[in-house]
Amino acid sequence: MSPVQVLIIGAGVRGETYAQYALNYSEHLQVVGVADPRLFRCKRLQQLYNIPAGNVFTDWQEAAGREKFADCVVIATPDQLHKGPAVAFADRGYHILLEKPMAVTEEDCREIVSACERNNVILSVCHVLRYYSPVQKIKELIDSGAIGEVVNIHHMEPVGFWHFAHSFVRGNWRNTTESSFSLLAKCCHDVDLIRYWLSGSRCVKVSSFGSLLHFTPDNKPAGAASRCLDCQVESTCPYSAKKIYVRRVEQGQTGWPVSVVCPKEPVDIESLTEALRTGPYGRCVYDCDNDVLSNQVVNFQFEGGQTACLNMVTFTQEVGERQTRISGTKGELRCSGAGPVYLYDFLTQEETKHDCEAAPSSSVGDMPHGGADFFLMDAFVKAVQSGNQSHIVTGPQDTLHSHLLVFAAEQARLQDRVIKIHQDGSYS
Ligand SMILES: NC(=O)c1ccc[n+]([C@@H]2O[C@H](COP(=O)([O-])OP(=O)(O)OC[C@H]3O[C@@H](n4cnc5c(N)ncnc54)[C@H](O)[C@@H]3O)[C@@H](O)[C@H]2O)c1
Repeated sequence: MSPVQVLIIGAGVRGETYAQYALNYSEHLQVVGVADPRLFRCKRLQQLYNIPAGNVFTDWQEAAGREKFADCVVIATPDQLHKGPAVAFADRGYHILLEKPMAVTEEDCREIVSACERNNVILSVCHVLRYYSPVQKIKELIDSGAIGEVVNIHHMEPVGFWHFAHSFVRGNWRNTTESSFSLLAKCCHDVDLIRYWLSGSRCVKVSSFGSLLHFTPDNKPAGAASRCLDCQVESTCPYSAKKIYVRRVEQGQTGWPVSVVCPKEPVDIESLTEALRTGPYGRCVYDCDNDVLSNQVVNFQFEGGQTACLNMVTFTQEVGERQTRISGTKGELRCSGAGPVYLYDFLTQEETKHDCEAAPSSSVGDMPHGGADFFLMDAFVKAVQSGNQSHIVTGPQDTLHSHLLVFAAEQARLQDRVIKIHQDGSYS
């Protein structure tokens, strides 16, 4: 079988991550084109993958305007720029790996799904956690009947105090109008997981509360400057850009999040200092144009009477290491981060430990999310190569429904009421 040929749309952090699959598995995947207005990002991929100059574009529209020249696209553009390329490439007949969130409005999500269905192309939305081994282990244990009927899911997403400051106060996901609301940006994965673990049961009602705490101008300490490098009280601030970035570079850590602050190589103290002096990541966290929520809870009621609670919390030590507790009629599961998963059996009153298989590090390389990015890309490549969509565990309708649930939860919060979910996923 000849390798699948892929065009990368958006050669930022995520686009580059997925492209890396081709480094280890060139017999299965070949990167044949790239589009990004940041030409230095295109150049990086062009050199790594030997992309012909004619297949390097400064905008997705240029690439979509050409006759189809690859089997599939990876769309890893900013949140607000998903629908345009997804519909255009589907209409050209490309199979699509689309970064989450699918799009930032319900209408756009629906349009993407119908474009993919109309053109009979594969759509895989990057709900990477579905391919994460602790998530799979939990699903396997639930499906085996080990805890009987699921009654409640209690799931917490710890965003991490410095990560929130980086991405959601200073960074690309800080402002709802410019990107999306934080439940969509951060927790569309978690809503998807709750639905996945409760497969077969339909959510019928949601309620939600949340707020933006602490990262507002009224919390700015007396004497604080508008940039950390000029700040007299910086040493007392846990969110200081010096602590988050300068310390890392001093320790030789120039990958994410430093690579976002200084996207051009080489990264050294001089280039970082310049970026912190002039760019968004050097700003005081109490002086930014951020408005996305730092904490939000969502309650779900399912058709069979089961309940679930999702808790997004910013002020945590852990970054993204979800804490999950699932109660069933015969037992209980709990898992923290990468596992193991613990199963307590009510009959025997014994706890068993279930290890989660890690992805082989040789295949994962720099692909993060505990190997889940690798497994997601692997499933997509196999689906395109074989034409068999069953490799993909997040089909278009499934993903649409979990996104609709996120929009419904946000509406519940904004309107301060319980939202009903209808059979077809629509809500009122
Ligand atoms: N699945 C996950 O767990 C996960 C994790 C992080 C981010 N994301 C999502 O991935 C997407 C990309 O995030 P990122 O961190 O890589 O951001 P990024 O800013 O590093 O990359 C986005 C790239 O898109 C490029 N771009 C902008 N306009 C373009 C255009 N018109 N044509 C082509 N390219 C264009 C930008 O120049 C940039 O290089 C976002 O939607 C984000 O929410 C998903």
